[in-house]
Amino acid sequence: MSEPLGVALVGCGTVGGGVARLLLEQPDRLTARAGRPLLLRRVVVRHPEKPRAVRIPPEILTTDLDIVLADPQVQVVAELVGGVEWARQAVCRILAAGKDVITANKALLATHGTEIFDAARKHGRAIAFEASVAGGVPIIAALTQSLAANQILSLQGILNGTSNFILSAMTETGQTYAQALAEAQERGYAEADPTLDIDGTDAAHKLAILAQIAYGMTVPLEAIERRGVGGIDSIDIRFAGELGYIIKLLAETWLSEGLLAAHVSPVLLRRHTPIAQVRGAYNAIHVTGDAVEDTLFYGKGAGQMPTASAVTADLIDLAIGRTQRLFQTQRLWSHDGPRLKMRPADSVRSRFYLRLLVDDRPGVLSEVASVLAQHQISIASVIQHEVPDLPAEQRVHLVIMTHTASTGYFRAACTKLDGLPFLSSPAVYYPVEDYKER
Ligand SMILES: NC(=O)c1ccc[n+]([C@@H]2O[C@H](COP(=O)([O-])OP(=O)(O)OC[C@H]3O[C@@H](n4cnc5c(N)ncnc54)[C@H](OP(=O)(O)O)[C@@H]3O)[C@@H](O)[C@H]2O)c1
Repeated sequence: MSEPLGVALVGCGTVGGGVARLLLEQPDRLTARAGRPLLLRRVVVRHPEKPRAVRIPPEILTTDLDIVLADPQVQVVAELVGGVEWARQAVCRILAAGKDVITANKALLATHGTEIFDAARKHGRAIAFEASVAGGVPIIAALTQSLAANQILSLQGILNGTSNFILSAMTETGQTYAQALAEAQERGYAEADPTLDIDGTDAAHKLAILAQIAYGMTVPLEAIERRGVGGIDSIDIRFAGELGYIIKLLAETWLSEGLLAAHVSPVLLRRHTPIAQVRGAYNAIHVTGDAVEDTLFYGKGAGQMPTASAVTADLIDLAIGRTQRLFQTQRLWSHDGPRLKMRPADSVRSRFYLRLLVDDRPGVLSEVASVLAQHQISIASVIQHEVPDLPAEQRVHLVIMTHTASTGYFRAACTKLDGLPFLSSPAVYYPVEDYKER
C-alpha cells in the first residue's frame, strides 16, 4: 500500500462536515479509489465546542491554522470556510507552506483566481475546485477532462439554486416573489442575507470560473452583465407561460465571431427544452462543443453530501496525482491564456419579451410599434387582454414578443418608451432564448 495522503479541513460546517463524514465513515471505499488511504489529520474551526454532523476526534480539532501549516503529515488542505479575504490569505499561506489546496469557494476564485493560481505555480503546488460550481455536478471535471478535445461553443447554466427555487415556486404555485423567497429561506435554500444569490452575483462568480476553464480567459466580474431574480413580477411568469415559455435565471457564455459574450439574466426558455425542466434547488449546465455537440449536466447544486462528494473526488484526484498533472498543462488563471475579446452587451442579438403597463386608449399600440420600428425592432406577437367595462383612464398590460434585435437598439427603444406619457411604469423586458444569434 502506498503512503497515506494527509488531509486537513479548514472549516467543518455544512460542506466540511460532509467531507469529514466521508473520510471517517468510508475509509475503505476511498482507499480503494485513491490507491492509498486518505487520512484526516487536522480540522480547523472557529468554535471547537460546537456540535457537528460527525464526531471529530478531539485531538485533531483546532482553531489554529498555523498548526496545520507546520504539520509535515498534512499534504492537502481543503478550504471550506467561505468569504473572500480570510480565505484568500489562508489559501496563500497554505500554498506557501508547500501544501496542495482544495476549495469550494467560488467568490474567492472569481475575484482572486489569478493571485492564488500564481501563488500555487510559484510554490509548485496544485489547486482543485470541483465543488465551487454546481455543488455535486461534476462540471469542472467534464470540461477539463472529458470534453477536452472540444472548442466549447456555449455554456448555459442554471447555477443558483436559490433563484431557481424561487422561480420554480412562482411558476408552479403562483406565489409572489416575496412568498417564494420566504419559503426558500424557511427550507434553508436561501441565506439570511440572500443578496448575492438573488442579484445574480453568485451565478456570475460561477460563470467566470466556467469561462476560465472553457476559454482560458480570465473574465472580470464587471464584464459579466448581470440581472438577478430580485423583484421579478409573477405577472411576467404568467404571460411567459401563456406564450409557451418558462422564465429561468441563466448564466450564459458563448463564442460568436471570435468574441466571447457572457451574461446572467432571467431568460424566457421554451417550455419543452431540457434546461427549462430543471426545478427547485437543482442545477444544470448545457454545454455545446464543436465535436461533442450538445451535452447536459444535472444534479444537486448545493447541500452537505452532494458538495462533499465533489470535494472528496478532488482529494482522490490529488492522491492519484491527476490534479497535479492537469494543473501544469492547463495553466488556468495564468497570463498566457488566449486573448479573446469580450462582446459588448449592446451588440448581442436576441429576441425580447417586453411588457408595458399603458393607458387603455386609442393610438397607444401604434405609437409603441412606431418607437420599436424606429429602432429596427420588428414585432413577432402581441398580447393585450380585454378587460370588460373599462373606465377611460384604466391601464392595461401590453405584452410584445419581438423578432431578433440588437440589445443596444432594444434598450434605446425601452428608454424612449419609458418617457412616453401613456406608460405608468418602466418597461419590463427579458431576452428570449430561442433564435438568439450565436
Ligand atoms: N453549503 C453548500 O451547499 C455549498 C455548496 C457549494 C459550495 N459551498 C462553499 O463552501 C464553502 C463553505 O460553505 P459552508 O456552507 O460549509 O459554510 P458553513 O456551514 O458556514 O461552515 C463554515 C465553517 O468555517 C469555519 N470557520 C469560519 N471562520 C473561520 C475561521 N476564521 N477560522 C477557522 N474556521 C472558520 C466555521 O467554524 P465553526 O463551525 O466553528 O463555526 C465552519 O465550520 C463556502 O465557500 C461556500 O460558498 C457551499
